[in-house]
Amino acid sequence: RGKRAFIAGVADDNGYGWAIAKSLAAAGAEILLGTWVPALNIFESSLRRGKFDESRKLPDGSLMEITKVYPLDAVFDNPDDVPEDIKSNKRYLGSSKWTVKEVVESVKQDFGSIDILVHSLANGPEVVKPLLETSRYGYLAAISASSYSFISLLQHFAPIMNPGGASISLTYIASERIIPGYGGGMSSAKAALESDTRVLAFEAGRKHRVRVNTISAGPLRSRAAKAIGFIDMMIDYSSANAPLPKELSAEEVGNVAAFLASPLASAITGSVVYVDNGLNAMGVGV
Ligand code: NAI
Repeated sequence: RGKRAFIAGVADDNGYGWAIAKSLAAAGAEILLGTWVPALNIFESSLRRGKFDESRKLPDGSLMEITKVYPLDAVFDNPDDVPEDIKSNKRYLGSSKWTVKEVVESVKQDFGSIDILVHSLANGPEVVKPLLETSRYGYLAAISASSYSFISLLQHFAPIMNPGGASISLTYIASERIIPGYGGGMSSAKAALESDTRVLAFEAGRKHRVRVNTISAGPLRSRAAKAIGFIDMMIDYSSANAPLPKELSAEEVGNVAAFLASPLASAITGSVVYVDNGLNAMGVGV
């Protein structure tokens, strides 16, 4: 039987989540997506209208099949957590069962189990503010959307993950080195995500035989990255200074995710794996 993957954080064909879905599909996995509720309508209608057909192309010429798209808001664990203003927001009214617990219940009902969980989402409302100017609200929101969301997804999915399963998240080197401009507590959120990768690897490994790794990816011109405002500069910096002076493609990250999710990586867990043209190894710019 092929493996089944749930990829949280895909709302267009530009980000890492999409590329990971493609690499997993190329390796024979069945693809389920979790798409942020406010972005769901545009994503689904674009999919239906064939807007992504060119980028759905796999190496063998076939098109990636997406078995099902689930609405998801990973900052809410169950319906009791959802505040009134979100409940009555018209972008949320059209969808239902999009809290983490409900999504996992739906996946269980539809398919029974999964093998691979991918967390490719982050959000920090004050990302453009320096940490020194970040509010408590902004900081906690960054941690909630970008770090706890992974704990919650794994907590709920692990019981329906087949032994030998794997989970993967995406992190950024701003967790361990100073990257001016990556503010609002997003650097803190990535530090938490990496630390949690180790602790969760132990706990989910012992309890469910599930592996937990995170990919520290280099800069990509995704929708989320464009919102931060310094992505072109980071791409230029990487090309100028990394051991491999080429632009990083999302596919290169997708392929490592497929490797980490596969039995080829059966002894890798609790790791931060750099996919950044080697930039992390540099001590100074050139
Ligand atoms: P993206 O925009 O393709 O992905 C972010 C996704 O998160 C979007 O689809 C958005 O709708 C979703 N999202 C936001 N809040 C959500 C919520 N509450 N519930 C569910 N979904 C939510 O952008 P990208 O850059 O591919 O981001 C994917 C991951 O890669 C993130 O963790 C990001 O921090 C990480 N990353 C990105 C880098 C880059 O340069 N683009 C570099 C290193 C890591």
